[in-house]
Amino acid sequence: MPTKPKRAPAAPALPAPSISSGPAPRYAEGSPAKGSNGSLRARHAARAAEPYPAYDDVFRPTDGILAEDTPGVLQPSRLAWQDAARGLFLYHGDCLAVMDAIAAKHPDGVFDLIFADPPYFLSNGGITCHAGKMVKVDKGDWDKSRGPELNHEFNTEWLRRCQRLLKPHGSLWVSGTHHVIFSVGYAMQQLGMKILNQVTWQKPNPPPNLACRYFTHSTETVLWAAKNEKSKHTFNYAAMKTANGGKQMKDVWTLTAPGSAEKTLGKHPTQKPLALLERILLAASHPGDFVLDPFMGGGTTAVACAKLARKFAGIELDPRWLNLTETRLGAGGGIMPCR
Ligand SMILES: C[S@@+](CC[C@H](N)C(=O)[O-])C[C@H]1O[C@@H](n2cnc3c(N)ncnc32)[C@H](O)[C@@H]1O
Repeated sequence: MPTKPKRAPAAPALPAPSISSGPAPRYAEGSPAKGSNGSLRARHAARAAEPYPAYDDVFRPTDGILAEDTPGVLQPSRLAWQDAARGLFLYHGDCLAVMDAIAAKHPDGVFDLIFADPPYFLSNGGITCHAGKMVKVDKGDWDKSRGPELNHEFNTEWLRRCQRLLKPHGSLWVSGTHHVIFSVGYAMQQLGMKILNQVTWQKPNPPPNLACRYFTHSTETVLWAAKNEKSKHTFNYAAMKTANGGKQMKDVWTLTAPGSAEKTLGKHPTQKPLALLERILLAASHPGDFVLDPFMGGGTTAVACAKLARKFAGIELDPRWLNLTETRLGAGGGIMPCR
């Protein structure tokens, strides 16, 4: 694990994360032994109710990913921008810390829907084709793999916080490729979430496979899960059927990757298509619902929420993407002093 950077003083804008004390529970150690309480549901409930590890004790893959302007110092979490009239809130910081802070204020959950597009852990020296050229896959340090165990530990920690922040009948959508999605699905099961669908996003025009040793990668998976087995999740069945020409909508969605029209204000290296986020919101939320995106990137979820009158909170480590999101929200950009 990289050396921990010095911590900046706590920011006044967010309460200091103070949910638990003591050492971080590890899943193998912290779970009740099989059969000790009789039922799988009880074990899941016990696991979901475990206290959070104190922030400093949690494995934080963001150690070493620093704001460009403050060498050696992690920026504290802060509310970077808000539009209270539209119910839009952008947080700058590590999503683990920001979600801890939100949970301290809202221990019973506050979000109706969460969409997460986490690190896929695929920037590891491979090659791909971009604009007809061979390029290295390098989305950023945040996307580098730390090995299957640490990747899974990170996935479990952010998913646990998402589960805690969902309202009782809220649901969670997580996108990924094979590099991450099996770990996400396993962690969802460990946490007692109820997996509702495995949606395949099929891209009609994927880049060719340059190595010619694999099939062309042309899909991503989006897992949809309810907070737990008891949740009565929202599914706007009729709206989806209408959108699909009067036929039940299937779990394979053919949608093009975002084109230049969605990148006129700037682009993120792993930007999702607006149409994907709009479909997710229309399928599983209502106007006025509160949506969280803990890995906000260039703010596609934020834009979809603004368009469809959902409230939104987004969390992002990198100030560049916070600025892009503000710009896409029509705020003009550049209004975020990040220090
Ligand atoms: C896959 S991208 C999201 C792209 C986004 N869906 C879009 O359409 O633009 C993931 C983003 O999460 C950010 N990120 C990575 N680790 C993070 C963390 N621990 N806390 C907050 N943001 C993080 C990265 O900087 C990156 O911008």
